[in-house]
Amino acid sequence: MEVIIQRDEHSAAWLVARVIARELRANPRLVLGLATGKTMEVVYRHLVHLHHEQGLDFSRCHTFNLDEYVALGPDDPNSYRYYMNHHLFRHVNVDRNKTHLPDGLARDLDAQCRQYEALIEKAGGIDLQLLGIGRTGHIGFNEPLSAFKSRTRVKALAPATLEQNGGHFGGPEKMPRRAITMGVETILDSRRIILLAAGKNKADVVAKAIEGPLTSMISASSLQMHPRCSVVLDEAAAGKLTQKEYYRWIFANEPAWKEFQDNSREEAPSDDGSLPRYKVKTLKR
Ligand code: GLP
Repeated sequence: MEVIIQRDEHSAAWLVARVIARELRANPRLVLGLATGKTMEVVYRHLVHLHHEQGLDFSRCHTFNLDEYVALGPDDPNSYRYYMNHHLFRHVNVDRNKTHLPDGLARDLDAQCRQYEALIEKAGGIDLQLLGIGRTGHIGFNEPLSAFKSRTRVKALAPATLEQNGGHFGGPEKMPRRAITMGVETILDSRRIILLAAGKNKADVVAKAIEGPLTSMISASSLQMHPRCSVVLDEAAAGKLTQKEYYRWIFANEPAWKEFQDNSREEAPSDDGSLPRYKVKTLKR
């Protein structure tokens, strides 16, 4: 695992967007694992910017999202399909047929989970998986006690998660109680992983995930077992780490990160909290 600390949320998200862009340019057929949440909105704004300003091409890539709420359809503004369409897909030239999320409306949820695994396999596996982290230490919706060997399945959401995400629904009591999520092992099967976390609310759980013991109580701690995982943090989210100087030293001395060491705010598109106002281009195929 590598830990990269950037001065603020904006720079951290910009670095992640640049890494995704680099991988996509190197392999236009990239199979990209995507995440949702507030933290990712900034990354997606940067990707939209890179598409419009530098021609970043999404037309041949495939995407697989980590999770979806049970019983929410694509037209529900709280569904993750809606989120992805709104924050990324409608602004770039991705082929919607190549974008995948679990179907929260499926009649047979277990069959849907098996089908999702099969789709990922058919696409050749995930090349680069983007992750956030929830307050419970979850990746996807792998709540405490998710087995490290778990695959895509239906998972009941923890009370802390209902509390964290309930605001979007007008209160935790109005939120779905379950979600379909890739399993921990499904995530660990990805060839490369980047976890992004920002803000002081995440500092405790980030420290547990990175410097604490492996435990299914914090599913993000399983990432310590992954051979190619980078954790990108802002200073606030890195606040409770004990080995920050060591992580900075590695980042500064690792040739693979050379081109990202200058990651500066000036280079990033301005971020006033709103989506860039670009016209949606028609699909190039
Ligand atoms: C949800 C998603 C997670 C994500 C988390 C973080 O719970 N299922 O995949 O990591 O939100 O959200 P935020 O970025 O809003 O803190």
